[in-house]
Amino acid sequence: MKKNSIVQRRQFLKSTAAAGLGFFILPSGTLSAANSPGNKLNIAMIGTWGRADAHFGSVSSENIVALCDVDENHLAHGAKKFPKAKTYVDWRKCLEQKDIDSVIISTLDHTHAFIANWAINRGMHVYCEKPLGNTVEESRIVRANYLKNKNKIATQVGTQRHAKPNFERVRELVKDGAIGELTDAYAWGDRQIRRPGYPPAKGEPPKTLHYDLWIGPAPFHPYNPEYFKGVSGLNCLSWNMYWDFGTGQVGDMGSHTIDLVWNAVDAALPTTAEGEGQEYNPEVTPVELHMAFDHPANDWRGPIKVHWYQGGMMPRSPKPYVDLKRIGHGAMFKGTKGYVICDYDSRILLPFGDDADLTYYNKRTKDKVIPPMGHFQRDWIDACKTDLKTHCDFDYGGTVIEQMLLGLVAYRVGKKLDYDGAKGRVTNSDQANALLSKEYRKGWTLNG
Ligand SMILES: NC(=O)c1ccc[n+]([C@@H]2O[C@H](COP(=O)([O-])OP(=O)(O)OC[C@H]3O[C@@H](n4cnc5c(N)ncnc54)[C@H](O)[C@@H]3O)[C@@H](O)[C@H]2O)c1
Repeated sequence: MKKNSIVQRRQFLKSTAAAGLGFFILPSGTLSAANSPGNKLNIAMIGTWGRADAHFGSVSSENIVALCDVDENHLAHGAKKFPKAKTYVDWRKCLEQKDIDSVIISTLDHTHAFIANWAINRGMHVYCEKPLGNTVEESRIVRANYLKNKNKIATQVGTQRHAKPNFERVRELVKDGAIGELTDAYAWGDRQIRRPGYPPAKGEPPKTLHYDLWIGPAPFHPYNPEYFKGVSGLNCLSWNMYWDFGTGQVGDMGSHTIDLVWNAVDAALPTTAEGEGQEYNPEVTPVELHMAFDHPANDWRGPIKVHWYQGGMMPRSPKPYVDLKRIGHGAMFKGTKGYVICDYDSRILLPFGDDADLTYYNKRTKDKVIPPMGHFQRDWIDACKTDLKTHCDFDYGGTVIEQMLLGLVAYRVGKKLDYDGAKGRVTNSDQANALLSKEYRKGWTLNG
């Protein structure tokens, strides 16, 4: 069943092309779309309400051949928009459909790595809502599967704010030396959702909700309508703070805001991780949290420290007249000659010190300015059909979330961890290594 008909279709197209039947050979992995009428993708949407709504417009130019949602009302919502698609409640069944070549995952965080792995292992292009995984192991397996297949498939993690031009303007300032030598980078987010623990059993799931599939690979928790009370697109705030379903603000707004830093620092995996914050609650992820990571030098900068703050914990402002708390979700870069402070849309350059005269800043000419990436979802759709290159592929997105999830482990262990990124192992804490992965409910396979 793995390597399904897409691969066969690709092989067929290659052989027909080779036989001189009038096709031309595209790079490996691009033939599925080329084969479908009008050069369209055959997309399965897993999750058909909530965040999925934000993707309906972008994908309406393609063939939506399958829809899957554990809530039959939500499935009907998707089917109204795409009536020709086959419908499913179990994503494992859905991915067996032979004509699917691309998948969009907009389900709960604890299912992302599962669905992504299964789709990649079947030769499909994947767009996955953030975060790519809930554990270090999950993010590493998805990334490794992607890297094995990167000449055949296009992937994108759903951090769509990345398309804002300010991301590249910040990168240019940092990289071109506007703050001298980069030494530290900070990102923070101030969304605060406090819960005491999992909600207790209350009522019965509606007949239209396949609750056991909603729980999926997570340990079982009884039904409570609390998990479903959010409006479309914000219901994630009803479950993502519970350890078995999400990673709180680390995977939520953290995915978007650390991206401002990640895009500018060209980092790989960290060599250390530390975490501090509110007292550990085994049921609920922390609101107050500060994590810090050491990153070695690369070819354009020296070693740096990367920080993540949330829930009111904040980096120190360089000047009293700059109130960082007025930036709900933001980032700051510290260099030997000053600071860049930014949010998603705007930035401030703060040269600092008596010799901060900007003569060291190699401001780029107009023709060297990084071009806009354009529409974020379109970036993935176009890549599926052409060169497979996206801006937030599972290598980029998988590495940054691995760092963040390692930080959560450091917070739980309460110790500075030394990390071997090549092996994905902590070298100074067995307790931490045990927290890099999770046990799943019987019947669910992460890398199927
Ligand atoms: N990129 C962004 O800006 C952004 C914004 C909001 C949410 N998100 C992400 O999107 C995802 C969904 O968030 P949401 O608020 O839409 O959540 P949600 O609780 O509304 O769930 C989305 C849909 O998935 C369905 N679903 C749940 N489990 C499923 C399963 N196993 N198989 C198939 N369908 C399933 C639900 O019934 C629902 O229709 C989350 O991972 C969240 O982090 C991203």
